Amino acid sequence: MEGYIKPPVEIRYADELKVLAENDKGRRPENWKLSPAAVRTFIIGGTVETPEGEVKISRKFYGNDALVERAVITLAGSRGLMLVGEPGTAKTMLSELLSAACCGCSTNTVQGTAGTTEDMIKYSWNYALLLSKGPCREALVPSPLLIGMEKGIFARFEEITRTPAEIQDSLISVMSDQILNIPELGDEGLVLARPGFNIIGTANTRDKGVNEMSGALKRRFNFETVKPVGDVRLEKKIIIQEAENMAAAGHIDMPVDADIAELLAVTYHELREGRTAEGTAVEKPNAVMSTAEAVSVYFQTLSHAWYYGGGRIEPAVLTQSLVGAVCKENKDDLGKLRAYFNTVSKEESKAGGLWKEYLNSSKLLN
Ligand SMILES: Nc1ncnc2c1ncn2[C@@H]1O[C@H](COP(=O)(O)OP(=O)(O)OP(=O)(O)O)[C@@H](O)[C@H]1O
Ligand SMILES: [Mg+2]
Repeated sequence: MEGYIKPPVEIRYADELKVLAENDKGRRPENWKLSPAAVRTFIIGGTVETPEGEVKISRKFYGNDALVERAVITLAGSRGLMLVGEPGTAKTMLSELLSAACCGCSTNTVQGTAGTTEDMIKYSWNYALLLSKGPCREALVPSPLLIGMEKGIFARFEEITRTPAEIQDSLISVMSDQILNIPELGDEGLVLARPGFNIIGTANTRDKGVNEMSGALKRRFNFETVKPVGDVRLEKKIIIQEAENMAAAGHIDMPVDADIAELLAVTYHELREGRTAEGTAVEKPNAVMSTAEAVSVYFQTLSHAWYYGGGRIEPAVLTQSLVGAVCKENKDDLGKLRAYFNTVSKEESKAGGLWKEYLNSSKLLN
């Protein structure tokens, strides 16, 4: 879709979703747009048999395919789905993909912050209408939760643990009884959830300023931990795929350099693991070494080459972009990055070509 920075998943992948829906022979939970089998294909990729032949569906989430299946099964039931994990492990992306595929809408979302109030979770009022007409349906401003219940679609609750625990708990009654009561509307104030309604929450296990969830709320969700990508080749693939998408969206008409993506994938992987490919221990930075960060470092380097560098992606620019990403939380991380460069420069597997150029740029790490 032209003219927008990042259209929602259901618009970006409208063609794939249409093919999947038209050729879907699987069992479908009430009110879902696709069967769980088709949702899985949408997220982890595959082929669809159509009367005109096979159509390929791209893979969007890499890594744990069984987790995707479990998440879909949870959503078809009456418990909510809570995706937890380190930052940048695609929790938000997965929750958008699931919402778009199951109910055709990924934008029915509450963003959890320290300032999230109960009104934002349940309902609030248009005060001009409230004053002129009194409490009536027209004056009600429904929350994403209420919209989800009435339409039978998912409500997404992003970063739920950033919200104070007592505010989070306002979900409990809705999740237990599938009813939300609006006392101001009298007899018309009882909202019953329609089939298809569910909640997908995401929560970060690492950030500061998070609030524990209460036991009562935890029991109403099935938890799934989304882990960082463990395989360097996969991480390289994700970096390339995402950078290509971002370049296309930004009208950067330049091929993605797979070798540079490899340097970055290896660096992120080894720093995250605290060990190089040859088995030498390296100190892990405090910063989150997530795939999402790697993607943005790569894209920054690519943009630099496009606007300033005459089209060549320079390893030295990659190093500079890396400094900004790795050293934003803690100054000591710069020393750790330098130590990493020193360690890997002694490794045989990293002796030639681009690695040499990359490692030579370690003087920029200051
Ligand atoms: N397993 C993966 N498969 C595909 N892409 C991935 C994967 N892990 C990370 N990514 C990339 O990283 C991005 C992850 O961003 P996303 O915002 O979804 O992460 P998050 O877990 O919600 O992070 P945060 O905790 O900071 O909110 C994706 O858009 C994608 O580019
Ligand atoms: Mg997120």
